Amino acid sequence: MSKFRAKILGTGKSLPNKILTNADLEKMVETSDEWIRTRTGIQERRIASREEATSDFAAAAAREALADANIKPEDIDAIFVCTCTPDMVFPSVSCLVQAALGARNAACMDISAACSGFIYGLACVKSFIESGTYKKILLIGVDTLSKITNWEDRSTCVLFGDGAGAAVLSAEEGESGILSVHTASDGSKANILKVPGGGSRQPISKEVLEEKSHTIQMDGSEVYKLAVTKMVEASQKALDLAGMKAEDLTWIIPHQANLRIIESVAKRLKVPADKVFVNVQKYGNMSAATTIIALDEAQREKKLKRGDLVELVAFGAGLTWGAAVIRW
Ligand code: ACO
Repeated sequence: MSKFRAKILGTGKSLPNKILTNADLEKMVETSDEWIRTRTGIQERRIASREEATSDFAAAAAREALADANIKPEDIDAIFVCTCTPDMVFPSVSCLVQAALGARNAACMDISAACSGFIYGLACVKSFIESGTYKKILLIGVDTLSKITNWEDRSTCVLFGDGAGAAVLSAEEGESGILSVHTASDGSKANILKVPGGGSRQPISKEVLEEKSHTIQMDGSEVYKLAVTKMVEASQKALDLAGMKAEDLTWIIPHQANLRIIESVAKRLKVPADKVFVNVQKYGNMSAATTIIALDEAQREKKLKRGDLVELVAFGAGLTWGAAVIRW
C-alpha cells in the first residue's frame, strides 16, 4: 500500500457562452420541449462556436482548477485529457493545453473512453500517484460533442452539449483522496454507440460526408438499458473496493446523460434523491466533462465538506463504464 493518496486540491470548469434551448431545437428538427423534458430532463445545453475547439475549454477549466488549488502551471508533472472530440487527430489535446498554460514540466497524454473518460482518468491518476511516478497531475474531462452531432437527427441532437471540467490532484498523506476506482469495458457492443466515419476504417470522403457517418450514431434504448445496469454494477464494485456502502455516501455524482437513467441508478442503489447531484437540465450530455463539472459545481456551491464521501459513476461508448469513490 502506498502511503500517498491522490487528493483533489482544486477544480474548475469552462462552458461555451451560447445556450441552445429546447425551444430553439423545436425550430431545427421535429421535436418538442415536452418530449425532450419528459424523456431526458434536459432543458438547455451549451454549444461551442465555429471558432472554439476542445482545447480552448480544457485550458480555461484548467486555469480555474490551478487557481482553486493555488498551484503554478510549472509545478504540474502530468496532464491527462479525457476526450473523444480532440481538436485534431494529433497532437493530443493535452499537449495543446500544456502550451496554452505554460506547464512546461508536464508529460502529456489523452485518454479515450468516451463518456466514462473522467473515471478512466481517475484510475490512471490513482496509479501514477500511488506508484510515485508523478506528484501533481492535472486531469481534464472535456468534449465538444456538438462538432460530431448530426443536427438533422432528432433522436440524438437533443441530447448533447459541450463543456470542460478540470481537477488538480496531488500525492498527499492522510484520509482525503481517491479511495477506489473500478473500470470495465465490453468492446463486443461497440456498434450501439459510435462515430464510424473519419477514422482509419472510413477516412473522410465525399461518401462519409454525404452519409454523415462522421457524426454520432446510437441505439438509444439499448444504451439506456445497459447504462442503468452497468452504472449500478460499477457503483457497487467501487464501494466494495473502498470498503464502503451506498448509505455512507454524502453524494453520488452520476454521468449526466438522461434524468431517467440517473433516477433509475439511484433507486436501484437505494440512494435518496437529495444525495444525487443533478445538472443535466442545464447542460445535457457533455460526455467526459459531466462528472467533473458536477463535482466542481458541488464544491463551489459548498455542498462538500472535509471527510464527505463522494462517488462518481459513468457509462459510455466502447462500451466503457466505471466508478470512483473519493474522500473529500
Ligand atoms: N423528439 C420527438 N420524438 C422523438 C425524438 C425527439 N427528439 N427523438 C426520437 N423521437 C421518437 C422516435 O422517432 C420514436 O418514434 P416511433 O416510436 O414513432 O419510432 C420515439 O420517439 C421513441 O420514443 P421512446 O421509445 O419513448 O424513446 P425513449 O424513451 O427510448 O427515449 C432516448 C429516447 C431519450 C434517446 C433514450 O433512449 C435515451 O436516453 N437513451 C440513452 C441515450 C444516452 O444516454 N446516450 C448517451 C450515452 S453515450 C454518451 O454519453 C456519448
